[in-house]
Amino acid sequence: MKKLAIFASGAGSNAQQIMKRFRNHADIEVSLIVCNRPGAGVLNIAQTAGIPKLMIERERFMKGDAYIPELENFGIDVIILAGFLWKVPNRLVDAYRGRILNIHPALLPSHGGKGMYGMNVHESVIADQDTKSGITIHLVDELYDHGAHIFQADIPILPGETPASLATRIHELEHRYFPAVIEKFLLGADCPIDLSSIESMTP
Ligand code: GAR
Repeated sequence: MKKLAIFASGAGSNAQQIMKRFRNHADIEVSLIVCNRPGAGVLNIAQTAGIPKLMIERERFMKGDAYIPELENFGIDVIILAGFLWKVPNRLVDAYRGRILNIHPALLPSHGGKGMYGMNVHESVIADQDTKSGITIHLVDELYDHGAHIFQADIPILPGETPASLATRIHELEHRYFPAVIEKFLLGADCPIDLSSIESMTP
């Protein structure tokens, strides 16, 4: 059994979709939800699903042992960042190299880097008058939004598109693809994973 820890700071809609896909899965289980923000929606979602939660605090995460002992105690194999807004410290990157995935709500390398999260990203896409946006799922390394790409999918920017409407459409794209991409990655697919191979998977 491959054990996942999902790190999330906010509403947790991606975490919820991931939990749904792997409930009763033969080979993959969501074993832990890691959260840095008391009151975050993802905590209720974990509670309802009966998945253990770990609240982390900044000093120990950034400058201490990065909670690696807890992750090891839970037997975590792979870390999924699903709307997790702190930078992952080098110590954790090192301990889980090649085994930390992040989802970014734009087509990296555009609109990435420090401060580029949530609505900031969609505002930047609209301000630049891009003709398309999308999602990037990538490995995490020591630099923001920098590791090798695992998967990208895009959508056209529609006439009259606003950051809010784009955010809704990007969320839909994330929910459609992120759980399936995680599954393919964990089951050993060649990367980057192409869209058609995800679309042909059973939901
Ligand atoms: C998602 O859109 C994710 O791509 C984004 O935060 C949102 C979390 O939504 N992540 C980043 O911006 C990271 N730079 P959720 O809590 O509903 O899953």
